Amino acid sequence: MNMFDTIFARQSIRNFCQERIDWETLEDILKFADSLPMLIKDSKVEFKLVSNIEQKQGFNGPFSIKAPYYICLSAEKTEDYLLNAGYLMQQLNLYIESKGLGTCFLGTANPGRALKSSMKYDYVISLAFGKSKGPVYRDPSQANRLPEEDLVVYKEEVSSNIRKMLEAARLAPSSINNQPWRFVVYKNRIHVFARKNPWFAKPLDRMKMIDMGIMMANLLIAAEELWIDVKVAKSDALKNKSFPNNEYILTVLIS
Ligand SMILES: Cc1cc2nc3c(=O)[nH]c(=O)nc-3n(C[C@H](O)[C@H](O)[C@H](O)COP(=O)(O)O)c2cc1C
Repeated sequence: MNMFDTIFARQSIRNFCQERIDWETLEDILKFADSLPMLIKDSKVEFKLVSNIEQKQGFNGPFSIKAPYYICLSAEKTEDYLLNAGYLMQQLNLYIESKGLGTCFLGTANPGRALKSSMKYDYVISLAFGKSKGPVYRDPSQANRLPEEDLVVYKEEVSSNIRKMLEAARLAPSSINNQPWRFVVYKNRIHVFARKNPWFAKPLDRMKMIDMGIMMANLLIAAEELWIDVKVAKSDALKNKSFPNNEYILTVLIS
């Protein structure tokens, strides 16, 4: 299965066999991680592979998951670094899942102090992975997601390929399945927005930007698979406009 097909078949896995994965596969995953395209050019990031097999590595928190391996991302804190982090981690996530391994993002679990201090930049997020005890894939109809009509406003009739890109975006995983993404769609551009959190949920804003990056990976992988040329840009007009329920993130220009 390629990464595009995996978008429609994947699910989060929380029950892992505490079993070793062969070194070639791990090396291949790390090589892939280091070759990933960025959403935000020249961002500085480091991937760290953590084996939880020989020695228990500290991941704490109520939503922590026991897995044989984790891959942790640390990044330099620059503008949109969270968006970029989500974008990178979802590409890696789909790559690992496409190999028949199970994965789950760990947004709320925290690495122990020793592990954190061994990272090159600021810790952002981890992905738990390994051989799954149950099925790794599911039918897309089983994914618990908001319907398209809640997420997308079509301003013009668009091609079936653009609809397929938006379907890939809709199926993206998000922290506590929040699905913050919203879209305003024209033939030649998709304006991407994120739902605003109420004031008491502001601490969730950080995870929301990672979610938005994750969704962008699905959108852009679908564009590539469907041979649609796209460019990501920010509209100054929309950036400076205030919307009651949503915040403007970026625009995908379609040529
Ligand atoms: C950024 C992010 C953080 C997440 N953090 C956790 C977590 O800490 N613990 C957990 O069990 N699941 C976590 N998840 C998994 C989500 O709960 C899951 O993706 C969502 O409920 C949709 O389910 P699905 O991935 O099976 O489609 C996280 C997902 C994302 C994208």
